[in-house]
Amino acid sequence: MAATLATATGSLPARGDAATARVFSPGGVAWDDDGTIVFAGEADDLPWEPASGHVDEGTIVPGFIDCHAHLPFVGWRADEYEARLAGDSYRDLHGREGGIFRSARMLAEADDDEILAFSKALAREMAAHGTTATELKSGYGLSVEGELRQLRIARRLADAIPQTCVVTLLACHAVPDGASRAGWVETACDLLIPKAAEEELADAVDIYVEDIAFSLDDLERVAAAASAARLPLRVHADQLGGSGAAEAAARLGARSADHLNHVSEEGIEALGGSETAAVLLPASTLTLRAAPAPVAALRDAGAALAIATDLNPGTSPVCSMPETIALACSLYGMRPLEALVAATANPAWILGRHDRIGSLEPGKRADLLILDGPTFAHVPYRPGHDPVVATVIGGERIA
Ligand code: NIG
Ligand code: FE
Repeated sequence: MAATLATATGSLPARGDAATARVFSPGGVAWDDDGTIVFAGEADDLPWEPASGHVDEGTIVPGFIDCHAHLPFVGWRADEYEARLAGDSYRDLHGREGGIFRSARMLAEADDDEILAFSKALAREMAAHGTTATELKSGYGLSVEGELRQLRIARRLADAIPQTCVVTLLACHAVPDGASRAGWVETACDLLIPKAAEEELADAVDIYVEDIAFSLDDLERVAAAASAARLPLRVHADQLGGSGAAEAAARLGARSADHLNHVSEEGIEALGGSETAAVLLPASTLTLRAAPAPVAALRDAGAALAIATDLNPGTSPVCSMPETIALACSLYGMRPLEALVAATANPAWILGRHDRIGSLEPGKRADLLILDGPTFAHVPYRPGHDPVVATVIGGERIA
């Protein structure tokens, strides 16, 4: 039996019906000593029999790119999950100084090495499940010093793990104890964002727009501060309720609007007609038992779709992209090859790394997976099964 190769090709971000992977069967891939791809396509056209790149069966795909993950953090919150199953809501727990505030306390009370060890173990688990690049986010610091500390730990984590990492400053996640919302937004915009940019600690800026967190006006201010700092904007939009955040994100030129469980018709149209990608986080939908995001409408509107884990201790204690892809297909209605593009090439574009990663094409880095099923559809078709036989980064097998 020969291997199948499935990869995105063409311009990014991929949208609508064009957002599907190309399949070569039998297919093959070859790379040079530097780990750069020199050939990907029909096996018969392979320029030579590559010793390191030869696969006889299964499916070869680009490594998964998790473009929305809240690492580094330390400690879990399973008791809150139990409390929600007993009737509490995410908002209730947030109101009682649980939720984000609790993870902030755990972060503040742990020393850097402890946080690093906890987060490294999760990054290893991500690699075993095929994640070859990931976002790292702050947002549990909840003070200027606290957020900068979490960003520094994120940079240390990036140096310690084999994955490509892109670090996001989640400047407005929850209103810190003792501060007013307006006061914190001002501090974030005038001090935190400029300082994170100046010290090169962040590659992007994010804000959580929600009735329990920050408003559309706050989003405008953060967008202006991010733009002044020359950092791309990401937005947590329309997760627990609709607020018009998706259309505001599109209007403000954000790189992405993420979650979208309660996105409005206007939001869907705005994303379809803009450069702002729609990031779907179905594992948090599962854990919160929330309404699915409207994938069919987003696809029909022409939005660029991505899938990510949202790995965090509150809403998504999930670090497996195969599991997340299964949810994106079975819960949200994505098609398998569309999900593959949404888990590889489109998130590479969102993270600004598509020149090197996200698809298997000559000139890109050999970040790839060998999966055990004969087609990529076996990934969403068999939730709970671990499909990853090998994770390869830069031509080296790392898991
Ligand atoms: O993306 N919604 C806001 N932020 C996270 C949850 C953070 C937490 O509960 O610790 C999310 O779901
Ligand atoms: Fe998130």
